[in-house]
Amino acid sequence: MTESEQLDEIFEYYKREGNSQETLVALMREVQQIQGYISETVLQRMTEEFEVKPSVLSLILKMYPSLKKSPYEHEIICCTGARCSSKQGMELLEEVKKYFSVGSDGVSADGKVCLRTRNCLKQCKTSPNMMIDGRLYSNIPQGGFGKVWENAVKSSENQAAGSHTERRLPMP
Ligand code: FES
Repeated sequence: MTESEQLDEIFEYYKREGNSQETLVALMREVQQIQGYISETVLQRMTEEFEVKPSVLSLILKMYPSLKKSPYEHEIICCTGARCSSKQGMELLEEVKKYFSVGSDGVSADGKVCLRTRNCLKQCKTSPNMMIDGRLYSNIPQGGFGKVWENAVKSSENQAAGSHTERRLPMP
């Protein structure tokens, strides 16, 4: 069976179950088993076929860290805004690039990390800032990325081990 046929089957099955949070999460888990993550196309299809707002799906993805929106294992966003840049933000970006041997496509040599930049993470007071897998890391000293990364990996391992419980959302 092709991936698209498998997706059709999943959608057909879950459409009979309504659009409760449990149903949407169960559908996403199945999709992730097939695609390795939940693609934009699937999210778009969910909004149409389950009549849910994109903001609801974003909220679910936020609250269930095991559900991934990207094919990469980790996403790092370095702030390149003026305040962060004035506090060695660009050096930090270079440090991250070097650490993972990031290519011009923004992907690490092993294909596991996707590096992006953003103009301001709206946390200028604590610059330089970066986000790793949706979590903010601030006041990073020069040469300090290795330590930050270790902590980030440890915290995601703890989540996977279940020390972090995924929270239920009140559905609108
Ligand atoms: S410039 Fe980096 S958070 Fe605003």
